Amino acid sequence: MASGPSVLRIGRDDDTEAYIRLIGDAWREFPGIVFDVDAELPELRALATYFEEKGGRLWLAEGGNGPLGMIATRPMREDGAWEIGRMYVAKAARGTGLAHKLLDTAEAHAREQGAERMVLWTDTRFNAAHSFYEKRGYVRQGAIRILDDLSKSLEFRYAKPARGLIVEVLDAAAAASAERRFSEIMVACVADGAFVSFLHPLAIEKSRAFWKRTSSEVAQAHRVLLGAWLEGALVGTVQLDLATPENQQHRAEVTKLLVDPAYRKRGVGEALMRRAEQTALRLGRRLLILDTKADDAGEKLYRRLGWTEVGYIPDFTQDASGQGYAARFFFKRPA
Ligand SMILES: CC(C)(COP(=O)(O)OP(=O)(O)OC[C@H]1O[C@@H](n2cnc3c(N)ncnc32)[C@H](O)[C@@H]1OP(=O)(O)O)[C@@H](O)C(=O)NCCC(=O)NCCS
Repeated sequence: MASGPSVLRIGRDDDTEAYIRLIGDAWREFPGIVFDVDAELPELRALATYFEEKGGRLWLAEGGNGPLGMIATRPMREDGAWEIGRMYVAKAARGTGLAHKLLDTAEAHAREQGAERMVLWTDTRFNAAHSFYEKRGYVRQGAIRILDDLSKSLEFRYAKPARGLIVEVLDAAAAASAERRFSEIMVACVADGAFVSFLHPLAIEKSRAFWKRTSSEVAQAHRVLLGAWLEGALVGTVQLDLATPENQQHRAEVTKLLVDPAYRKRGVGEALMRRAEQTALRLGRRLLILDTKADDAGEKLYRRLGWTEVGYIPDFTQDASGQGYAARFFFKRPA
């Protein structure tokens, strides 16, 4: 069934049938989920009032043949956080960009109302939803929540900073959920000429395999992974390699500083490096080293941040055509 163009508007209490259809259809895609409105979702009878009373808002998207999607957001009590909820897109409207439009609308509203952080819970079975939220910069946070509902649902918590330039350390769960986004960023950086182990064109599967290994090293505490968000988008990353020999536990190597080419020259690289240095110090790593392609954007950044050059090696790496590129080596004692 073609969905036709959709109109997005504020949801009303009397849109109950539309909410029931969207939520019921989505739940029925997963065997074993019990959909009983009166027992478990009585708020669907007046959903706009439900969100209004919580200080939030609800939207409904409609096409010529009925409801196509919905989303809601409401403030939470802590951390300046706003929750995204009731996000459903009818099968007919999937892959049309409606999901992005819904989430853009809800996030923009939350941000306008002062949200610092976005959070959401999603059923552990909803794989397509996880990919979507991960694409949108959300990372997994905390333990799985067990609901006392008829389906005994398990839910993941996803979260992200909502505004500004924020760098956070990612634990293993967050790292695993960021694999997709970091893979895309690495492919784009390699295409842009970055000096980060791989040749252009870097296949997305190969990039994913690299980030999967990274998450497992984070889980083993051999590596620290940082992510940078700019206005709610996950746009950059850097790592601290902690797997040093036992007589070098006071130092770490900074690796894979990557900023999405679409978000360069906005201070993301600098914010990542500053946070990496603070994190290293906190972990007792008092000496940092790195190498970089000579005369590249990274070198400029490291010099600006007070790194000391220790040497230059010509022809250190090659591109796919065999052309050689020099590298420069730096160290810094973070203070
Ligand atoms: C190196 C890299 C991480 C820098 O990322 P970035 O986010 O652009 O870094 P920053 O924005 O902090 O700094 C870059 C420049 O933007 C400038 N800048 C920062 N904020 C700015 C702003 N709001 N407006 C205008 N310019 C700004 C900085 O002063 C700096 O200028 P300079 O190059 O003349 O010194 C990025 O180019 C990259 O990912 N390259 C590919 C991967 C790579 O080479 N990594 C290094 C491996 S060792």
